[in-house]
Amino acid sequence: MAKSAEIIIDGKSYKFPIVEGSEGELGIDIGNLLEETGAVTLDFGYKNTGATKSAITFLDGDKGILRYRGYSIEELAAKSSFLEVSYLLIFGELPTQEQLKKFTNDIKNHTMVHEDIKKILDGFPSTSHPMGVLASLFCAQTAFYPESLDPNRSVEGVYLSIIRSLAKMPTFAAWAYKNAVGHPVNYPDNTLDYCSRFLKMMFALPAEHYEIDPVVADALDKLLILHADHEQNCSTSTVRIVGSSKASIYSSISAGINALWGPLHGGANQEVILMLEQIKKDGGDTDKWIAKAKDKNDPFRLMGFGHRVYKNFDPRAKIIKKAADDVLAKLGVNDPTLEIAMKLEEVALKDPYFVERRLYPNVDFYSGIIYRALGIPVDMFTVMFAMGRLPGWIAQWKELRENKEPIGRPRQIYTGKNLREYVPITKR
Ligand code: MLT
Repeated sequence: MAKSAEIIIDGKSYKFPIVEGSEGELGIDIGNLLEETGAVTLDFGYKNTGATKSAITFLDGDKGILRYRGYSIEELAAKSSFLEVSYLLIFGELPTQEQLKKFTNDIKNHTMVHEDIKKILDGFPSTSHPMGVLASLFCAQTAFYPESLDPNRSVEGVYLSIIRSLAKMPTFAAWAYKNAVGHPVNYPDNTLDYCSRFLKMMFALPAEHYEIDPVVADALDKLLILHADHEQNCSTSTVRIVGSSKASIYSSISAGINALWGPLHGGANQEVILMLEQIKKDGGDTDKWIAKAKDKNDPFRLMGFGHRVYKNFDPRAKIIKKAADDVLAKLGVNDPTLEIAMKLEEVALKDPYFVERRLYPNVDFYSGIIYRALGIPVDMFTVMFAMGRLPGWIAQWKELRENKEPIGRPRQIYTGKNLREYVPITKR
């Protein structure tokens, strides 16, 4: 028998169908709620609201499960590459060898950006945060490819925009960094793979040979896979809501980059490193800082602990912790902030205060440490997250479009003044 939910308002009962996802999750379909009852739902932060039906990513926060298109994140991180995972997220299936070759070549053919982009870049002072520069350059593509503004773009046209997005992202990201350090930009070297190409554009200096370290390139590839999608998080919801107005792929993703920038979202990994540095500078007494985190009257809070949807552990954090250990050992990095991080982790996992509140380390806790070991500066951490999240944003934007979803337009409960008469300025 079909399941339904009953809502009673002023003694009158209304029935709403329950929809079931492929993993058994239930959602009350309240599509007709306002029309039938005159009421809306109120859900600050959308903690209980399913905004869409999606076939891209499955996440079970209680069990710590994350899957892209049905494949476990553990298996993808161990066996796949970032471009393979990008293809999977965007087109729904793992590519064949031929498909991956074409996809990779198509991307290579579009890594260059228009020379006039450099004029835009030159307009930014070197004090600009690379995330702001990245979002601006990404959106600027609408000016160079005005055909992307057509809401009824053909399938081939959309494919080209997808390829351009993936191809130019590492170029924009590396250039945003070069702008911040005041160095000349490097052009993409298409003899290299996706991550190596980015590393060379980011780190190579004029007239100096830059040797790609495969340990660094592989670790980066894995990090990008771990960040590639995370269902309806803040930046993805932003991409979907902007895309629902039929804005172009470039402006929708630019909006996602801006949403990711905040310290409560992608900016969290940067906050973790700043916190570890602060503890180190103070002498490294982790007990003192744990006590501060527990003290209600102390504004200090542990960054990188707990997660809105994971209730026991973040599966990405497990993989990334192991990767951090491997990378640090292989690169011979001895990072004292890592020791502080390990001590914090150990205490927090045992202390009832953190256990009861389910505050265990999340993906941001370790990603900062590993980015640092790879030589990525702190201001670039969130940019790395954006590079990883790009295929997820693209897949979600494409799905929204293919499902012909309506424009996003939430309602509200108005709590302001009732109608009152205008008072002339002389009488106020
Ligand atoms: C993410 O990967 O987007 C973050 O963990 C935040 C989230 O899912 O809400």
